[in-house]
Amino acid sequence: MKYNFDQIIDRHNTNSLKFDFAIQRKRPQDAIPLWVADMDFQTLDEVKDALVKKSNHGIFGYSEPTDRYFNALNSWFKKHHNWDIDTSKVVLACGVVFAIAATIRALTKENDAVLICQPVYYPFEETIKVNNRKLVVSELVNVNGHYEVDFKDFEQKIVDNDVKIFLLCNPHNPVGRVWTREELEKIGNICLKHNVFVISDEIHSDFICEGHKHTVFSTISKEFEQNSIVCTAPTKTFNLAGLHISNIYIPNDSIRRKYKLEMDKIGYSQSNIMGIIACQAAYENGDEWLKELKAYLKSNYLFVKEYINNNIPKLSLIEPEGTYLLWVDCRRLNLTDRELKELINFKAKVWVDDGYVFGQGGSGYIRLNIACPKETLRRALENIKDVIS
Ligand SMILES: Cc1ncc(COP(=O)(O)O)c(C=O)c1O
Repeated sequence: MKYNFDQIIDRHNTNSLKFDFAIQRKRPQDAIPLWVADMDFQTLDEVKDALVKKSNHGIFGYSEPTDRYFNALNSWFKKHHNWDIDTSKVVLACGVVFAIAATIRALTKENDAVLICQPVYYPFEETIKVNNRKLVVSELVNVNGHYEVDFKDFEQKIVDNDVKIFLLCNPHNPVGRVWTREELEKIGNICLKHNVFVISDEIHSDFICEGHKHTVFSTISKEFEQNSIVCTAPTKTFNLAGLHISNIYIPNDSIRRKYKLEMDKIGYSQSNIMGIIACQAAYENGDEWLKELKAYLKSNYLFVKEYINNNIPKLSLIEPEGTYLLWVDCRRLNLTDRELKELINFKAKVWVDDGYVFGQGGSGYIRLNIACPKETLRRALENIKDVIS
């Protein structure tokens, strides 16, 4: 291994949302943070070097991505996802959630219905509600530890509520599903049938476990392509979330015009120069780093699995097909959500994302971020073991 992911790097006092704001977020100061989805690993040297070079240049004026940026994007998606992305249809944004909100605003009006499948990344629900759109939920079904879409309910909810947009999480945070091509075809066809536009959030698409394959939603057919946008970003993959850079593929010309108009309305134009530089360097140089990172994350998953099986058998893991977020079933503890939160976050002092925040179906679960050195995981698991008899 060229990279040492075991190295513990102190993130305290670095403005880290994950480490430095426990009190403000009502958690114990000394809780071990395994919550928000960023990693406790340094990004690759090439990204650091490119940022240092720009920093030494010392001028941070308005900036735009060049052809080299888009070539890097194209090569990455071609190599990793067999996707020949037409970069003339890519619009940069300062984040995927930002782009989701902008698309909802651009394509719907107040009280229009937007569908999501919970449990899902909680800003989906928040974004819909804060924009005064109607939240419609089709619950995923946990079939023996494997989450599935209830297609009958999915379609019925669309019809009953005159849904305008479906917000797809592909791969799905927090339940770890990498939707198969067949599942995506079913979803896409139902959406086409009922004139529902699809926003496909593919921010976790570089973290696919062996035996699974990511399908870019828009590559399935021309009709799907014209009826969707695909939200991508280098930020999860290379731990760049604080640099706020994402690439939104908007192939439909009319939709892209509407999206850009929304950008004009809120006064957003050029992207952050450090984000542009980091994204380009990461996509140009990140292959080996990502390969080693994924191997390390897999070993972390196996470590957690074995530890839980041997020491905390009342908990069970949903086997992840993608993402570095583990969805842990704690229902056999027979606790209310409040009691579970108290037990894990305050008694064990492990700061997790409580399952219920991802929607009703998340009740009784916790989400563990395992993108950290094994030693951190070991300490957290020992703490949890000590409070579960
Ligand atoms: C599914 C999903 N979408 C979007 C985001 C956030 O993306 P951004 O920081 O670009 O808004 C996350 C972060 O955890 C996520 O899990």
